This record gives sequence, structure tokens and C-alpha cells, in this order.
Amino acid sequence: MIDLRSDTKTEPSPEMRRAIASAEVGDEQRREDPTVNLLEQRGAELLGLEESVYLPTATMANEIALKLHGEPGDELLTEEHSHVLIAELGGPAVFAGLLSRPLVGKHGRISPEQIRAAAHLVEDFHTPRTRVVSIENTHNSAGGRVWPLEELDAVVDCCRELGLKLHLDGARLFNASVALGVPAARISGRADTVTICLSKGLGCPLGALLAGSSELMLKARRLKHMFGGAMRQAGIVAAAGVYALEHNIDRLAEDHARARRLAQGLARAGVPVEPDDVETNFVQIDVGPLGLSQAEALERAQQAGVGVSGTVYPTRLRAVTHLDIDDGDIEQAIELLPGALGAASLARA
Ligand SMILES: Cc1ncc(COP(=O)(O)O)c(C=O)c1O
Repeated sequence: MIDLRSDTKTEPSPEMRRAIASAEVGDEQRREDPTVNLLEQRGAELLGLEESVYLPTATMANEIALKLHGEPGDELLTEEHSHVLIAELGGPAVFAGLLSRPLVGKHGRISPEQIRAAAHLVEDFHTPRTRVVSIENTHNSAGGRVWPLEELDAVVDCCRELGLKLHLDGARLFNASVALGVPAARISGRADTVTICLSKGLGCPLGALLAGSSELMLKARRLKHMFGGAMRQAGIVAAAGVYALEHNIDRLAEDHARARRLAQGLARAGVPVEPDDVETNFVQIDVGPLGLSQAEALERAQQAGVGVSGTVYPTRLRAVTHLDIDDGDIEQAIELLPGALGAASLARA
């Protein structure tokens, strides 16, 4: 199967496996694992923040971050389809006790005006205090969309002015930095906390980093332990992260180019796709005009040998390019998907 379901589907490359096999390790709970320490240091440098903490997953990183920023009863503002809101099982309510207030975004982005209008800043005996804003870049549900820097800066400025903490869920932050052609630190450096995921486009079997000030990361290390995320000889997998930060960031441009090629090829063949919406490694396909439900379309694609996945939108699918997808896979997907989805009639129409 040509597996375009997610960029989480990558398997460690032979070179990454070699780095894993030769990793120096130690007890990471005691901060004695040299490979974990190196990964945390490199991650912090790349993100332009003082320190980073190695964690098993990006979900844990997001949940720890939100717990750092708010107390039970405080309010979180975030875009309505953000991962922290729709895909972490209500974690912000469970772990941090936060009341989440969804804002309707455009391409996954929210504006300073929306934050200003929604934030409860006056302390009284009725309204919850707004304490934290969480944004996502690239935005998964919006189709891998990237925040333009000026919009990002405006949200950071607004949070500063209103005294709100800003968490950046940058599970795919490097996709954003490569798409914009700017260092990752230009995107992440002004946030209070930043999550990056190592097991998506970067191709690691697992792992994530949470970055921020040393003061906050000390608290994050305590929460990591409390969440059950403090490990032992974790350098064995952190070695994959060190390898990925060195070798797998710039090449994300190839994934983006392949996603664009896929979108253009599908659009030419009559599949409802907007190539101009493809900013990174996601292609969104609207099967509504083809008279198919999401489930029917997924099944047909699968039968044809192409794995795609569903989205929060009832008729929209997504195809995601990654390290284990090459040019040949893209050509084949362009061959197979239009027929499987019955798009030929639209192409002729
Ligand atoms: C934007 C975003 N944040 C966080 C996560 C969580 O990642 P993990 O599976 O490592 O917990 C994902 C996973 O898809 C994601 O897309």
C-alpha cells in the first residue's frame, strides 16, 4: 500500500537504526543519559529557547505545557479544531483543570481581535480568568497550513500585552519553518512553551520535545515524572531524535514538493483538490462533489492500494507525504486515486 494516511507512518531508516544501535545511554530520570541531554540541548538551540525536555509524545508535551500555564478553573483560548481540543481526550480539562474556549479560526489561525474579544481579564467572582492561548503551526485539521509570520507576531504581541501565556503546538513546526524558509527559532522563539514532535515528518519511532525557559522546564521535568514520562536508558530512542534534527529537517521540502505534485496531478484528473491550499505535506480531498461519504472514499482508496485518512470535515480526506514516500509513489497515487474515487466523470464534465 502507498501509505499516505499520516506522516506518523514512517519507519526508522537504516542510518537512523545505526544511530540507535550505537547510542550512548544512561539513566535519563537522573539526567545521566548523554544522548537525551544532547537531544534536549540541540532542540532548545533550534527552537531559540533556553531549555527543552524530552518526552515520549507530543500529546504529553502539550498537556504538560498547559498544566504549566493555568490552574483549575482558568480558561484556555484555542482554535476550534486544534489538536489540544479535539484529539487529546479532554486532557486540558483532566490534567490542568482548564476550561477550553474554542475560537473559530481561518485556516486554523486565530486573530488578536478574537483573543481580545474573548479573553476574560478582569478578576471578579464570576468569570473564569483567561490565562493561556494555544496555537498550532502547522495546523493539522486545516490541512498543514502555516501561520504567516506577521499574523504569528501579532498574536504573540497581543498575548504579551494582555498578560496571557502562549503555547505553540508545533508538532510540525519544522514543516512550517521549511515552508517559510526561516529558522525554526524565528517561529518558536517568542512563545512561552513549544511542542515539537519527532515521530512525524522527522521520521523517528517516537519522541517529542517541550521547550521554554529553564524555570518553566524545571517544573516541566517534575510534571514529566508525575505523568509517568520519566524514562531510563532513553538515549536508545533519543539517538533517533539527534539523527533526525541533523538530517531530516531540510529534506521536508521534498515532502512539500511531492504533496504539491500530488495535488496538481489529482486536480488535473478531476479529483476535487485545491493545489493552492497545499502549503506543506498535506493534501485535502473533498469527496462530497464525487457523491461519496468519507467512509466510502476511504474504503475505495484502500482497495486501490492507496492509504488516505479522514479529517474533521465530513466529506474531506487527507493524503500526507513523508520520508517513506518517493516520487514513484506519488505518480502511482495520481494514477490510482482518480479511478478509485470515480473522478473521471468530473474530469470530463
Ligand atoms: C498538531 C498535533 N499536535 C500533537 C499531536 C500529538 O502527537 P503524538 O501522537 O506524538 O502524541 C499531533 C499528532 O497527530 C498533532 O498533529
